[in-house]
Amino acid sequence: MATSVAGESRAQFSSKIGFILAAAGSAVGLGNIWGFPTQAASNGGGAFLLIYLFMVFLLGYPLLVAELAIGRYSQANPIKSSGAIMPKGLAGSGRALAVVGLITASCILSFYAILAGWLLGFFISPLLEIVGFTEAATWLETFSTGRNLLLMGLFMAATIYIVKSGVAEGIERWSTRLMPVLVVLFLVLIAYIMTQSGAMAGLKMFLVPDFSQVDSGMIHSAMGQAFFSLSLGACTMMVYGSYLRKDADLPKTAGQVALIDTGIAFIAGLLIMPAMFVAQNNGVKIFDEAGNLESSGDLVFEVLPAMFETMGGAGLLVSIIFFALMVIAALTSSISLLEVPVSTASEELNLPRSTSSWLIGGVISVLSVAIIFNFGWLFDAVIVASTEYAQPILGVVFALLVGWVWKRDGLLSELRQGAPEMETSLFWKIWPWYVRVVCPAMLLFVFLS
Ligand code: PFF
Repeated sequence: MATSVAGESRAQFSSKIGFILAAAGSAVGLGNIWGFPTQAASNGGGAFLLIYLFMVFLLGYPLLVAELAIGRYSQANPIKSSGAIMPKGLAGSGRALAVVGLITASCILSFYAILAGWLLGFFISPLLEIVGFTEAATWLETFSTGRNLLLMGLFMAATIYIVKSGVAEGIERWSTRLMPVLVVLFLVLIAYIMTQSGAMAGLKMFLVPDFSQVDSGMIHSAMGQAFFSLSLGACTMMVYGSYLRKDADLPKTAGQVALIDTGIAFIAGLLIMPAMFVAQNNGVKIFDEAGNLESSGDLVFEVLPAMFETMGGAGLLVSIIFFALMVIAALTSSISLLEVPVSTASEELNLPRSTSSWLIGGVISVLSVAIIFNFGWLFDAVIVASTEYAQPILGVVFALLVGWVWKRDGLLSELRQGAPEMETSLFWKIWPWYVRVVCPAMLLFVFLS
């Protein structure tokens, strides 16, 4: 337990590794395994990979340190945290900003649960097929309002269940269990896919950059992907930072999280890009005549199951493993999203954690239901508003607060707690002005171009 700015005792991650796995669990999700490979495949493979790496380390990483620092400084929910670093008269606007963050996290969860529900369906479906429930299996894989509602509800219930169990018992325990399983499952699948003919063409596309594909749209996509993947600008990292022990070295910890996140995206690319070409080799149409990816959004849901089918008996097993992996990754992200409003409601309204988990999880589920009933226009609109606008803008606003508003002494003493040499480090020479000037300028440049 630790004491927050408000003087309350508060839960903490029980170990540094527990924190790293939980934060990496938040970062690693559908964005890595589905979003990144799909974007790379439709944006020139290796060229997208390079620009993405640039965005993660030169824009995302400094902002990740900023968000974690705000949370850890106050050891409180985002509303208190954002208020705490503001000068007295401006605390209200800090809190208002956090409210926007809470809404952003809730909106992301509302569409994320629908997507993750589909993955859950693709995971359960082959199991049903094995026991002979073929019709139910097909139903789970076919788009319908009923299926979307059922699977979203199941996924949301699992998310609520973990979050209501608290930080160490729920989030940390499950992230620590699930993250290593994820990596092992991935490696097994990569080893398998590399033995298949066609895999090398995919590998080449992923690793050899085609710079003719670089344009401003691609750079914007790479930036959005980096914000989404690192879970920035939605207060999740602020909340996780608030549970982080004071003796943890923030820049180092953030670096480890960013490396794990990027490593998993890279590994996902190593699996999915070769898998696409293996599927193509087996007669599945992946690129149209113009060389564009067919139904890029549906890559995981159409192209991959088609590939698994061509693998014969083993395909069923591979498909179960693959979708289990996706559900696990999605779950460690969705719990971080739900934690944002739940921790705030528990602390600000003095509600027991289980009540606020069910209450807020319920409200977000209603939002998901609204999206499912208005899928045609609302699904994309919520994704674009929350991930392409709210996340980058909030991420940079938090950086501006850290760079311009938070008193330099206070910031230094916060960072120094886990890194006594901070004042003389290279990090401290560069980072404060970097988040003040360079990060906002980069964002502005990308938006304007
Ligand atoms: N980073 C997660 C992913 O890559 O799937 C998604 C995410 C989680 C975005 C938490 C934002 C967030 F606050």
